[in-house]
Amino acid sequence: MQNPVEYFRNKNVLITGGLGFIGSNLAHWLVRAGAKVLLVDSLIPEYGGNLFNVNDIKDKVTINIADVRDVHSMRYLVQGMDYLFNLAGQTSHLDSMRDPYTDLDINCRAQLSILETCRKYNPEIKIIFASTRQIYGIPDYLPVDEKHLLHPTDVNGINKMAGEWYHVLYNNVYGIRACALRLTNTYGPRMRVKDARQTFLGLWIKQLIKGEEIKVFGDGKQLRDFNYVDDVIEALVCAVTNEKAYGEIFNLGDSSPISLKDLAELLIEINGKGSYSIVPFPPDRKKIDIGDYYADYTKIKKTLGWEPKVSLREGLTKTLEYYRKFGHHYW
Ligand SMILES: NC(=O)c1ccc[n+]([C@@H]2O[C@H](COP(=O)([O-])OP(=O)(O)OC[C@H]3O[C@@H](n4cnc5c(N)ncnc54)[C@H](O)[C@@H]3O)[C@@H](O)[C@H]2O)c1
Repeated sequence: MQNPVEYFRNKNVLITGGLGFIGSNLAHWLVRAGAKVLLVDSLIPEYGGNLFNVNDIKDKVTINIADVRDVHSMRYLVQGMDYLFNLAGQTSHLDSMRDPYTDLDINCRAQLSILETCRKYNPEIKIIFASTRQIYGIPDYLPVDEKHLLHPTDVNGINKMAGEWYHVLYNNVYGIRACALRLTNTYGPRMRVKDARQTFLGLWIKQLIKGEEIKVFGDGKQLRDFNYVDDVIEALVCAVTNEKAYGEIFNLGDSSPISLKDLAELLIEINGKGSYSIVPFPPDRKKIDIGDYYADYTKIKKTLGWEPKVSLREGLTKTLEYYRKFGHHYW
């Protein structure tokens, strides 16, 4: 794998969703790489944005509290940028069912308008879009590769699918260099742990640290794969700087899927204490659950040389340490 650090020194880099979980971890990486970083985030309270996420780099980045749905702001903000990490999104699957139009506006319509703005005002920009494994829906086979049919089980999945394909389309038709990564469950410091809007794992971590019981839905046997955030950042910076990635879509994933029950037990073991119970799925969650999922990430491994490096045990240990120390900024 090439060393992506050299691509970013003194480069202008825009991160939409830059105060969120993945965006803020990426901002730390880019600051270390010597980039000039602009973070755009709406800080809508139900989403993952948190100013504390950039507390230690706040003097080294520019922060603009703006909404990606605002075409006038975005027109101004994309100009002069070398790279765009397009991470702003409504991430809650349940919220997308309760309020489908907001999800449509952010995850679909705003994506098209960001691309239109780039086409008109900065066609040289290189873009990467954070897509999601959710767009596969209930897997027809495992592990899921990129050829798997897309049949999302919720509104969020449909809108993210459209957002993803607009990026590929603008690459293919207009020559704007863009690619997408289909992220699986990502975890690590700076994730939203207040509730399960971003991921159930965040809520579990909060519950564990607060001495509350973890609730595992269903029978606990559902298999999932997890990526530590540092591995995801490596994939993002590697893809956006590689000619071979433009116009492509890649799965991220991990080759050691784990059942949710085993995950709860591992967390409790690492924490040294805690408890969990297996409870029936709330009906609204059951209707959109995808069951077992883990990805085949051979394509990105072969094309870009990416593979996850951080084991689940190591990543969870670091994550728990972070929230023991800084949890009060996130509860
Ligand atoms: N974390 C995961 O497991 C995961 C999995 C698959 C895909 N993704 C995708 O990765 C991206 C980043 O996710 P994350 O986990 O960091 O979530 P996050 O909620 O922490 O980050 C998203 C950020 O986008 C911001 N945002 C939302 N709507 C906005 C708008 N209209 N204008 C400006 N900013 C807005 C939020 O305030 C938040 O800070 C999202 O697009 C998400 O769909 C994440």
